[in-house]
Parts: sequence; C-alpha cells; structure tokens
Amino acid sequence: MKPVVELKNLSKTIGSKKIIDNLNLSLYPGTITGFLGPNGAGKTTTIRMMVGLMKQTGGDVVIDGVSLRDNFEEGLSKVGVIVENPEMYKFMSGYKNLVHFARMHKNVTKERIDEVIRQVGMQNRIHEKVGTYSLGMRQRLGLAQALLHRPKFLILDEPTNGLDPAGIREFRTYLRQIAETEGVAVFVSSHMLSEIELMCDRIAVIQNGKLVDIREMSETRESFYYIEATPVEKAKQLLLDEGLTVDDFNNGLIVNVEQQQIPGIMRSFIAEGLEVFAVQPHKKTLEDEFLEMTGGGQIAETYAK
Ligand SMILES: Nc1ncnc2c1ncn2[C@@H]1O[C@H](COP(=O)(O)OP(=O)(O)OP(=O)(O)O)[C@@H](O)[C@H]1O
Ligand SMILES: [Mg+2]
Repeated sequence: MKPVVELKNLSKTIGSKKIIDNLNLSLYPGTITGFLGPNGAGKTTTIRMMVGLMKQTGGDVVIDGVSLRDNFEEGLSKVGVIVENPEMYKFMSGYKNLVHFARMHKNVTKERIDEVIRQVGMQNRIHEKVGTYSLGMRQRLGLAQALLHRPKFLILDEPTNGLDPAGIREFRTYLRQIAETEGVAVFVSSHMLSEIELMCDRIAVIQNGKLVDIREMSETRESFYYIEATPVEKAKQLLLDEGLTVDDFNNGLIVNVEQQQIPGIMRSFIAEGLEVFAVQPHKKTLEDEFLEMTGGGQIAETYAK
C-alpha cells in the first residue's frame, strides 16, 4: 500500500538541543496509527511540523507525494487538522458553524456537509446552538469540520482529553468508521495507553525525540502465565532450571511460557512435592510493554543534553 504521509529524517533542533532526531515513519490509507510517548518525548513538536505550525530543521514531511519543504501550501491542503479544542461559535448552531468553515475551502457542497454530519452521528442536534453541546458533541463537530474538504490525512493531538468513558468510546467508533469509509490515514497522539490500544491499528512509540518502536496491534504478544505454588522459591528454581524467564508477582510467579508447556511443568511440580494453587494466563498490557520499551517508570521528561 502506498503511504499517504511520510516523515523522512524529520528533525528539529532548538538551540543546541536536538528535540526531534531523524524520524522516519509512514502512514497508510484507512489506518489509524497511534503516537505514543512519555511527556516531553516530542509528540506535539512532531505534529506541529506535520501541520506546518513549526518549521523542521532537517528532513521533510511528504503528504500524498507533495513535499512540505517544496510545496508547503499544496501539501497542507491535504491535511485535516486538529481536533484539540476545536474553535466553534457557541451562539451559532452546529450546522451554521460547518457552513462557515466550509467557505474556507473550495468545493465543499451542501451534500458533503450533510455527509460529514452523518459520519459523526450529529443529525439530531446539528441545528441546536453549539453552546448547548456536551464536550463529546463539540469534539465530534470538530471532527466533522476537519473532514469537510476530504483530507487525505487526519491528525489529532490528544483528541479525547476530558471526555468521559462513554464519550471516548463513541469518538473511537466514529473515528474507526471514518478511517474506513473515507480511506484517510489517521494519526492520533495520546498518553493514554489503554485508549491507543483500543483505537489504533498500529502504534509508533517516541522517546527523547527518537522513534523507538513501530508495531502492528495485531502482532501476537508473547504468552505469559501466572503460577502460584508453594514453596515459591522451589517453584521458581524449577522454572529457571527449565531455562524459562520468571518474575515475582504478588504471591506467585509470572512465567514467559507457551500453553503446551504447562502440563509438563505441572507434572514436575507435583513430582517435586509442590502445592499448586493457581495457573492462569497473564495478559501483558500495552502499558507493561510501553514501560519496558521506554526503560521503566520514566514518565518525566528527559533528553540527551
Ligand atoms: N520552543 C522550544 N524551545 C525549547 N525546547 C522546546 C520547545 N518546544 C518544545 N521543547 C522541548 O522539546 C521536548 C518535546 O516537547 P513536546 O511538547 O513535543 O513533547 P510531548 O511529547 O508533546 O509531551 P506531552 O506529552 O507533555 O505533551 C520537550 O523537552 C520540550 O521541553
Ligand atoms: Mg504534547
């Protein structure tokens, strides 16, 4: 599949600080890519360069084959920005807001306005004043506004900030449908790992201005089991003797092991006189993996000076 957006050695140096360090990343049609990283990692800086709010000091952003370096305005016309606190006129209806924003583009028809209203599920309230909308409805109206000119690429910086769980789920559902029906490449930054996990097809992880990992959400994760047996030290030693990776967890152990190895392990435990209280699959969350990737509980910002 041909990428819609390519970051090519994208870099930003401010003073002597390298804030973004040679990012290479491609985004594809109909695919939602999450952009995950601890505070200060460089997410907002990257996004600002991708939407032309900040100039790169090295590399390029190519949108639908158009280089922002060479053809800034043409490249930007293909971007649907940003739903972080969409600016709306509160005293006008949602519909009138959309009509107003539609005038900023060429060729947005009345049919297109009606279509984006349906796509974000706002048909029933669109003629009411924006001032009466909930935050979730305002976010969805912002999404409708960003879609008016049929962008190839939609970029959202922390779109669900402040939404309640129902609002987040609704937003996620609409975003998924839009990615598929419009074939747009969606790029969503978030620090909420659980949300990225549910919303995205793939994630790009940034730390200290460098891309540390890109992975598909469908990639099968490693298999872990929680085993509780006494005496726990003896259980641990038996597992280590098998060459397995073992960690202490609550009263038991977390073992990196395939399901088909479990019966053999249980037999050896029983033969050694161990008492087994629990064996259950242990789902490693994206959060565990993220913390491993970024080197433990590093939430505060750090970068190479
Ligand atoms: N204008 C600037 N001058 C100097 N340093 C800056 C400037 N803008 C950003 N930085 C630094 O660049 C780094 C990346 O910041 P950025 O805002 O892109 O991170 P972020 O990943 O969006 O973080 P958060 O999750 O907190 O929003 C930080 O260390 C920040 O202090
Ligand atoms: Mg940020």
